[in-house]
Amino acid sequence: MKKLILIALFSALPMLVFNSCTKSNSQTLASKTTEEGEEDEGYITIDTSQIPDDQFGESVRYGRELMMKTAYYIGPNGKNGQYLGNKMNCTNCHQDAGTKPHAFNLMSSHDNYPQYRGRENKVLTLAERVNNCIMRPHSGKPLPLDSKEMVAFLSYFKWISKFVPKDGNFKGAKNLEIEFPDVAASPERGKVLFAENCARCHGNNGEGVYNADKSGYTYPPLWGEYGYQPGSSMHRVIKQAQWLKSNMPYDKVLLGKPYLTDKQALDIAAYVNDDSQHKRPNPKTFDYPNKMGKPIDYAHSPFQDNFSEEQHKYGPYKPIIAYWKKQGWKAVY
Ligand code: HEC
Ligand code: HEC
Repeated sequence: MKKLILIALFSALPMLVFNSCTKSNSQTLASKTTEEGEEDEGYITIDTSQIPDDQFGESVRYGRELMMKTAYYIGPNGKNGQYLGNKMNCTNCHQDAGTKPHAFNLMSSHDNYPQYRGRENKVLTLAERVNNCIMRPHSGKPLPLDSKEMVAFLSYFKWISKFVPKDGNFKGAKNLEIEFPDVAASPERGKVLFAENCARCHGNNGEGVYNADKSGYTYPPLWGEYGYQPGSSMHRVIKQAQWLKSNMPYDKVLLGKPYLTDKQALDIAAYVNDDSQHKRPNPKTFDYPNKMGKPIDYAHSPFQDNFSEEQHKYGPYKPIIAYWKKQGWKAVY
């Protein structure tokens, strides 16, 4: 086998090869789902034992550590610097350090930047995009571009990008899509579903549970002082529902095999992101300079259309999408 092992599973490849290649070094979740059966056929995994033994490799290794134990290194009491305002780790959302399929997968990010972003209406570098996540979900201050930490994040993203096709077209690159019901998402229904499916880990008040030495979380917070900010994409109902569909409840969902229905995922995301019930840090909103690039579930006027903030936030989304289509515009969400 070549030094870098790309384990792209096509149906022709016998399961035997997959098992022997991945058992030892692939991430826990990937191996857990492997044992469950065939759902992961076609998914790409990485082999961390193949990180090179040179300076670049050292930076890649630190970058991976930073993804997994972000708060330990650069959190409010960080060992190597204080940048984040909370103790969430990147991997809490970009699971398996950004390599889990359908979990805001970051394996193409190195290839995708610099990229035009509607949010800022300008072209961002990958480093600037990393700092957006440090500032919003983590309520932090940006990492200096020449810091060891920023270099490590970028080295890691470069290394994991080797495993995927350059056109970014691979299974699990995007989160699963949601089919929109005719009714609006409901925080009331979501509250009941949350108690049944989420509170056992994240707590009734969404506060999460710290790990033993409090350097991070066993179950990260969903709202409150230490949760992500309203300016984060996770605060958008559709965006969150797409992620929940393939990733939560953590103990029930299997890779690519949702546990929640689409409607349930939307209702729960509506409850989690209902600002009339749940406080978050830095409620000030960021606006999109270009309204055409504003995602339809980013619920702050002015809009390019005449739908209300309420409808943008909770739906029903179908009429909004249909209206955009009729105008010949592309709705983003
Ligand atoms: C609360 C959840 C959350 C946390 C924590 C988080 N992110 Fe993100 N991140 C997101 C979401 C949501 C997006 C947007 C994804 C999309 O639009 O599909 C994103 C996008 C990104 C992107 C752009 C990906 C691309 O290819 O366009 C990068 C890079 C990134 N995050 C890095 C990080 C890093 C590094 C950390 C830790 C310092 C981090 N994120 C923490 C939710 C999170
Ligand atoms: C068995 C425990 C468990 C259950 C049940 C569970 N989660 Fe999670 N959740 C986790 C863990 C663990 C993580 C962090 C994942 C990681 O680091 O890989 C997480 C991460 C998250 C995140 C991203 C990080 C953040 O804090 O913003 C959100 C959002 C989330 N869960 C929502 C939910 C919702 C909504 C439900 C119910 C549908 C749910 N979870 C059920 C364990 C759980």
